[in-house]
Amino acid sequence: MPLKNIEQPEVITVGKSTRLRKYDGKYEKLLKGYQDPYVYQNSEGIFDDDKKPDLNYVKGMCEYLDKAGELYFIEVEYNGRFISVGDVTIKAENPPISIWDAKYRGIGLGTEVMRAVICRLKILGYKKVTGSTVYKWNIPSKKMHERLGFVVTGENENEWFYDLDL
Ligand SMILES: CC(C)(COP(=O)(O)OP(=O)(O)OC[C@H]1O[C@@H](n2cnc3c(N)ncnc32)[C@H](O)[C@@H]1OP(=O)(O)O)[C@@H](O)C(=O)NCCC(=O)NCCS
Repeated sequence: MPLKNIEQPEVITVGKSTRLRKYDGKYEKLLKGYQDPYVYQNSEGIFDDDKKPDLNYVKGMCEYLDKAGELYFIEVEYNGRFISVGDVTIKAENPPISIWDAKYRGIGLGTEVMRAVICRLKILGYKKVTGSTVYKWNIPSKKMHERLGFVVTGENENEWFYDLDL
């Protein structure tokens, strides 16, 4: 959905070989990634393997995120073409990010993409990111948010809540 009535770009260039590409309705691309236990435990807080995300789950999630903000595939260049390796939604309240494939995690991609999210939110005129929610067991996400300047505003048993002044 356009944020502030400004059209969502087809592509946002993040780095030399990284870009965000506007979600095109192909929710099935998320299925393999969201069926990785690491992703559903850290992103969805699901630990019961019987409840792991199915096609209907990723469809509902994409429909919601596409309405709530600007939903993109995270794409990296591989053998001369771009492949989708994750998803991110640009919105000022709890912008979610997920890198589906383990080999693209822990190499700085999440931090690089979140910098592009912050930049886009500033361009759109937002002054603050609120309510970013991180499960307490998700150390890479905690570190990423803190490295980017997010500050803890609250917690419950399982989650940290973060805000960022833009
Ligand atoms: C959370 C996530 C987006 C972070 O992106 P990433 O590309 O893996 O993270 P980065 O490589 O940019 O690293 C971010 C920080 O975590 C640290 N880190 C990365 N992997 C780590 C690991 N396995 N163990 C401990 N620290 C780790 C990095 O050193 C870095 O910290 P620093 O800046 O203090 O050095 C990504 O791991 C992911 O998609 N995870 C699964 C889904 C998910 O958890 N989504 C977020 C829900 S809030």
